[in-house]
Amino acid sequence: MLTDDVIKAQIPYTLSKTDMPWLGEKYEGKVRDNYTKGDLRTLVVTDKLSAFDRIITTIPFKGQVLNQIAMFWFEQTKNICPNHVVATPDPNCVIAKQCEALPVEMVVRGYITGSTSTSIWYNYQKGVRNFCGNPLPEGLQKNQKLAHPIITPSTKAAHGDHDESVSKEEILSRNTVSEADFDYMAEKAMELYLAGVEHCAEQGIIFVDTKYEFGRDQEGNIMLIDEIHTPDSSRFWIADTYQQKIANGEEPDNINKEYLRLWLANQGYMGDGEMPAITDEVRIETAKKYIEAYEKITGLPFQAEAGPVLDRIEQNLKNYFA
Ligand SMILES: Nc1ncnc2c1ncn2[C@@H]1O[C@H](COP(=O)(O)OP(=O)(O)O)[C@@H](O)[C@H]1O
Ligand SMILES: [Mg+2]
Repeated sequence: MLTDDVIKAQIPYTLSKTDMPWLGEKYEGKVRDNYTKGDLRTLVVTDKLSAFDRIITTIPFKGQVLNQIAMFWFEQTKNICPNHVVATPDPNCVIAKQCEALPVEMVVRGYITGSTSTSIWYNYQKGVRNFCGNPLPEGLQKNQKLAHPIITPSTKAAHGDHDESVSKEEILSRNTVSEADFDYMAEKAMELYLAGVEHCAEQGIIFVDTKYEFGRDQEGNIMLIDEIHTPDSSRFWIADTYQQKIANGEEPDNINKEYLRLWLANQGYMGDGEMPAITDEVRIETAKKYIEAYEKITGLPFQAEAGPVLDRIEQNLKNYFA
């Protein structure tokens, strides 16, 4: 694990913005800068952290961690579902096939948890007993394992909006995806999730829930796009302490951005109003959580690329496209 000093020294270099017009047309996502040219899309993973659908701060090495976790899983799962990866010329970047994104996110959940209004626990607590087409029995406790994993589709909100959890029927009624495509994505999402659960279990991790995005490439093939099984798109808990924690009515130990989300919630911030100031200590602690996540999930030591992140990215991308 990196020392606090190394992580602290990286704070001034954290990446929040890129400007590389020579890579094509830019789309600035919440966390990634996307550049599209021809049939290629360059995704540059910044160090921004989003929670409650807002950018909260930047976290040292987060972009590298996120991208390298996604690459690990894309490689692991390519036989289950084809994906958009073409090359990874830099630790923070992926060159991908440009696809037409399908307007549904496939969320897969193995546990009843969460705090935001789109989460299954929030809805259950409010009395919902059918969540996105999945019947839920009475008497479930927060953070309990579901009888079997379920798919709870979500619409992908336009910039600034909050996502919406919906059923398959609602999605189909909007006529934006065919039933055959929906079923294919749902089946792949479940297979990918189960593969993730199996790998994580070997690493002592509970793979709680995640979301997938799919797109159609220029030949019409549906493939996995965006990211996969990262701490931004997924929830992971430590298996060892899980039983004890829920028996005590405590939150499970997590290795994802839940750390900062809980810290914010403890300061009384739930996404609206003025955000509390994020201290260096909180940023360092969050960075450690991300690095820990990388090492736990992949089983590999994290090789930090310290120093000026932006210069390195520009150089690597220039070399790649030269
Ligand atoms: N291969 C791809 N083809 C087309 N769109 C993609 C591809 N991979 C990812 N995307 C889209 O690029 C964006 C990635 O950046 P992100 O920071 O996640 O943005 P957002 O705030 O829209 O979620 C997402 O909107 C995602 O749907
Ligand atoms: Mg996204």
